Amino acid sequence: MPIVKFVPQNKEIDVAAGTNLLKAADDAGLYIEGDCAGKGTCGKCRVKVIGGADEPPTTAESKLLSESELKAGWVLACQRNIEKDCTVEVPVQKDAHTRKTTLAGGVENLDVEPAVEKIAVKLNRPAVKDQTADLERLLAELEKGELHVKPRELAGFPSMLRKNSYSVTAAISGKRILSIEPGDTTEQLYGVAFDIGTTTIVGSLLDLKTASVIAVAAVTNPQNIYGADVISRITHASQAEDGLKQLQDKVIEAVNKIIHDLLRQTKIARDRIYEIIAVGNTTMSHLFMGIDPTYLAPAPFIPAYSKALEVEAAELGIRINPAGRVIFLPNIAGYVGSDTVGVILAAELDLPGDNCAAIDIGTNGELVLRANDKLMACSTAAGPAFEGAQIKQGMRAAAGAIETVSYINDGIELKMIDDAPACGICGSGLIDAASALLDAGLVEPSGRFVNPEENPDKIPAQFKDRLRRGNGGYEFVLVSGKESDTGEDIVISQGDLRELQLAKGAINAGLMILLKEADISENDLDRVLLAGAFGNYVRRESALGIGLLPQIPAEKIIAIGNAAGDGARMALASLTMRKRAFELSKTVKHMELSTRPDFQEFFVDALPFRKMQ
Ligand code: FES
Repeated sequence: MPIVKFVPQNKEIDVAAGTNLLKAADDAGLYIEGDCAGKGTCGKCRVKVIGGADEPPTTAESKLLSESELKAGWVLACQRNIEKDCTVEVPVQKDAHTRKTTLAGGVENLDVEPAVEKIAVKLNRPAVKDQTADLERLLAELEKGELHVKPRELAGFPSMLRKNSYSVTAAISGKRILSIEPGDTTEQLYGVAFDIGTTTIVGSLLDLKTASVIAVAAVTNPQNIYGADVISRITHASQAEDGLKQLQDKVIEAVNKIIHDLLRQTKIARDRIYEIIAVGNTTMSHLFMGIDPTYLAPAPFIPAYSKALEVEAAELGIRINPAGRVIFLPNIAGYVGSDTVGVILAAELDLPGDNCAAIDIGTNGELVLRANDKLMACSTAAGPAFEGAQIKQGMRAAAGAIETVSYINDGIELKMIDDAPACGICGSGLIDAASALLDAGLVEPSGRFVNPEENPDKIPAQFKDRLRRGNGGYEFVLVSGKESDTGEDIVISQGDLRELQLAKGAINAGLMILLKEADISENDLDRVLLAGAFGNYVRRESALGIGLLPQIPAEKIIAIGNAAGDGARMALASLTMRKRAFELSKTVKHMELSTRPDFQEFFVDALPFRKMQ
């Protein structure tokens, strides 16, 4: 069996001859970026073979890698099968999670109202005159009426009781005893709220006695290996042998990794976590629970279930207290999931109030409108451009990503995350770049680069060398290879601008339909809330400049952070909030866009880079 050694991570793995290199890396626990599920079209899974393999480049590699990269040994991991021992250099992934973990909030000012209660008791010792069984003795002392307990919880109970002078603590959820613990453990009551994103999974550890967030951790959703978007994952779940199980295993593995990290940060004991509340899009909820998502993909996009599902942690293999409860909040429709329920809860859109739209921009754009105290929601396939995917040199918001691009003093100025050398462009940088190129007159409102051959006078002298012809049309060089971290020029291509137009067109069209249904115009909007990390970092002026957002005064556009995660944290900390989440999911009117003839009209109308009308 060939051995693959991965450096600098220093991991070695034996694989069967013919194993795909991307799979081998995944089996070795390494994350290699990729957006196309190994189809060889995104070019993101590049690794360098530094010993042991010398096959000629594949067609995809020849297309997506430069001469110099091929010469230096770069390959696309998904295009290579391992036939003999080799050493492979995997670029160290930059941390793209900081921005998602620093936004944890949502539980400030909540009443402390956890679903799990802990009661410490000291039982009377049994005697010949009082032969009451241990459990019944405990139940009588708890004074909670009939409570159920699984034999597993009773296994060590008798000796625990005696070793601890009859002092124990019961953790109770509803009518169930989840755990009986030695001594008084009432101070140790924890839960974790998860935001299961298609791209990133974020977990927040809450002290349920105080309703406070005490640690946050995040990982890239490892289902990524099966594709960057939900449709690829649904396809894998429904068509690959064991596909659904593979996807469920991946997300549970990620959840366990986050829990491990949270425990390491706080030094609390694993079995003192009694509850998990999760939110995510409808596909994520199906995959998390191991439920077939096949019929979400074709019209009429029917989920297997919508209501909140609750299971025992041990049943899913989630490593908290084995009797701990895991609750996925309810979905609204096939493409409007519990993450949107979380946004509505966090933004209090389920309460009467002003005319307000909330936009959660991710691979799917989820839109909510409260108008005249009625709630409507829709989902629109924005594509992964805002996550930096399907963009020539797109990347997630990690160190070195170009995040702001400004047209100032007749020049283009850039700012990279953490002021690190540029290595790509993230979603907010892409919007900025389009806006700056429009301002500089290098891009027409139609989204096309000005043709320097037809209109040489329109290209300012300082940009003449930077606007050039690339493989798929013109491209603008943001950073030259001499200054970039990668040694390659970092460009915005015509294709990138097209992807951005499609994404913004989809968001615009969705919002216009909601406004039309509510019989109001964008001028009637009192506020537009931007949810999610992307919404937090995108510059409002640039988003307005390319027409991504409704034309209302910039001060009415408000970033509300990771509202989906906030909603999960609120539902974990407070039973009242949880009930509200359950209720609101039934009252939101879902608008299905795919069947609306006017969607296409709005979409086409919204493609140009111009302010919304
Ligand atoms: S080219 Fe390999 S994952 Fe996309």
